[in-house]
Amino acid sequence: MNWNPRLAQLDDISAIEQLIPQSVLALQAPYYSEAQMCAALGPVFGVDRQLIEDGTYYLVENDGRIIGCGGWSRRKSIFGGDQCRAGPDPELNPACAPARIRAFFVHQDWARRGIGRSILVACETAIRAANFRSVELVATLAGEPLYASHGYAAIEGYDINLNGGLQLPVVRMRKSIPPDPELYRSDPR
Ligand SMILES: CC(C)(COP(=O)(O)OP(=O)(O)OC[C@H]1O[C@@H](n2cnc3c(N)ncnc32)[C@H](O)[C@@H]1OP(=O)(O)O)[C@@H](O)C(=O)NCCC(=O)NCCS
Repeated sequence: MNWNPRLAQLDDISAIEQLIPQSVLALQAPYYSEAQMCAALGPVFGVDRQLIEDGTYYLVENDGRIIGCGGWSRRKSIFGGDQCRAGPDPELNPACAPARIRAFFVHQDWARRGIGRSILVACETAIRAANFRSVELVATLAGEPLYASHGYAAIEGYDINLNGGLQLPVVRMRKSIPPDPELYRSDPR
């Protein structure tokens, strides 16, 4: 199916906040315990308003209902909701730092229909236009196959510490973003 992601607005936040736990508790269940998922909801899996304000967070809708979300960032944070961040999130220099892919969540009923991939394509187009030459992300074990299928390579696995002494195994992944060849095509005249 073809999906047309649109940019999220601040008044979409309450709908996104409903989608995130639904997506996490259903689609991450094969990989994480309920205790891990519940502890990660909020600090790790939450809305980052900065992405919406930056115009770098996308939504996919069906019949006016949000069924998928995800975005990219020109800022330092690589995961997590903004409520757990102390202070502003500094901007990265595209010449020497990778952009971030952030916070992808698809509704269980709409999984494996290309929504995640369509948002990823929209993100990479914008990342290239913003002159970044590489992208990094921290993938959940549920998210890793999506990114791997789109050319992202695993760099390292590690654990995010959660409340209650729990840990969330994740994978740091990276991809190069070559410049748009159209920009360098010589003028045929
Ligand atoms: C990860 C997630 C966003 C993927 O969204 P999606 O819309 O279902 O993914 P797509 O349909 O676009 O998948 C594109 C490709 O990725 C790969 N892929 C995605 N999910 C997969 C899975 N569960 N198992 C194996 N491959 C998978 C496949 O190659 C797939 O292509 P195919 O369906 O033609 O085989 C979704 O599973 C999700 O919301 N998970 C819970 C929240 C989460 O963990 N988010 C990731 C944060 S890093």
